[in-house]
Amino acid sequence: MSSVTLDHVHKRFGTAKGVEDVHIHIESGEFFTFLGPSGCGKTTTLRMIAGFYYPTEGSIRFGSQEVTAVPPHKRNTGMVFQNYALFPHMTVFENIAFGLQVRRVAKGEAKERVERIMDLVRLTGYGERRIDQLSGGQQQRVALARALVIEPQILLLDEPLSNLDAKLREETRFEIKRLQLELGITTIYVTHDQSEAMSMSDRIMVMQGGEVQQVGTPHEIYHFPVNRFVASFIGETNLWNGTIVGVEGDEVKVRTASGQVLTGLRQNASPKARIAAGESVLMSIRPESIQESLVTEGENVVTGSVEMAEFTGACVNYVTRVGEESLRSMSINLGRPIKQRGETIRLQIPKESIYFTE
Ligand SMILES: Nc1ncnc2c1ncn2[C@@H]1O[C@H](COP(=O)(O)OP(=O)(O)OP(=O)(O)O)[C@@H](O)[C@H]1O
Ligand SMILES: [Mg+2]
Repeated sequence: MSSVTLDHVHKRFGTAKGVEDVHIHIESGEFFTFLGPSGCGKTTTLRMIAGFYYPTEGSIRFGSQEVTAVPPHKRNTGMVFQNYALFPHMTVFENIAFGLQVRRVAKGEAKERVERIMDLVRLTGYGERRIDQLSGGQQQRVALARALVIEPQILLLDEPLSNLDAKLREETRFEIKRLQLELGITTIYVTHDQSEAMSMSDRIMVMQGGEVQQVGTPHEIYHFPVNRFVASFIGETNLWNGTIVGVEGDEVKVRTASGQVLTGLRQNASPKARIAAGESVLMSIRPESIQESLVTEGENVVTGSVEMAEFTGACVNYVTRVGEESLRSMSINLGRPIKQRGETIRLQIPKESIYFTE
């Protein structure tokens, strides 16, 4: 187990920018995720940690050990590649044992370690099968076993679930988390799937265009997005532009494009949002925080016309037109009559659920 530090790491490919100024400290035993859309620099960053790329600038440490220019096989990291990169002509056992062979571990000990790992990833009995005789999920577990058997300090997983169907993804997600907790191993996980990142991680680094946007716990990233990109990439949200018309103590009054004045709280502002009268501000309001209001007037009660109503059994979801804006809401079904398209609806936006960002 080891902590991982990236100290102002940059990677350029010729003149093209790969990643820029990644500066993070990952704790020993942490489950840390790189999240972002295709091409944002997740794999590049992971490959620098594994040693397959060297940074153009900056340095990398495992614990207090500088590893910036150490080759991959001397880093003691286990990596699962996106396409697994298994050896198709070898058996399951041979695939898993490969890393031990390279490290010249004695045959008897290697056999013991491979069998223990096969048990851990629930592949006991599959040792003699060839890779092409396995399902996608089984192949995924072989790749995981191959990375784990060398007892790495750090486990690196690059979109390991991307080739699996929905049900298998969920099962394997649980499996990876179980293994990580059982072994207490520092794990760096790459995905572009925000729900995967949210459900598995201790902390998440959100990236876009080679740059880090935000690092935080799933709760922080969800509730306190630092900008429009993070707010919209993580879950569903309503993004409303507004102008601050007054700040009174803790309360911030904002006029929306449709002339409605909403009250929010200063404490819910990201560091880059400018909270002062006259400033423009972006508000992020999560659909699940908005409730149908039973009163016609009051603080943050907005009136609109239902554009779309969706009943899922457990929930009632509305898209409501409020002046020039549209507002998505999502509430638990309490058995009230469901509004139809075109009907007037009143919605209450709790002031503590408005987040100000830049
Ligand atoms: N070997 C390379 N040579 C040149 N450019 C590269 C190389 N590897 C990556 N890049 C570029 O660096 C950027 C980041 O790529 P990277 O593979 O890290 O993205 P990613 O976030 O892993 O995307 P995906 O989700 O599609 O796997 C991209 O613009 C990519 O084209
Ligand atoms: Mg990638």
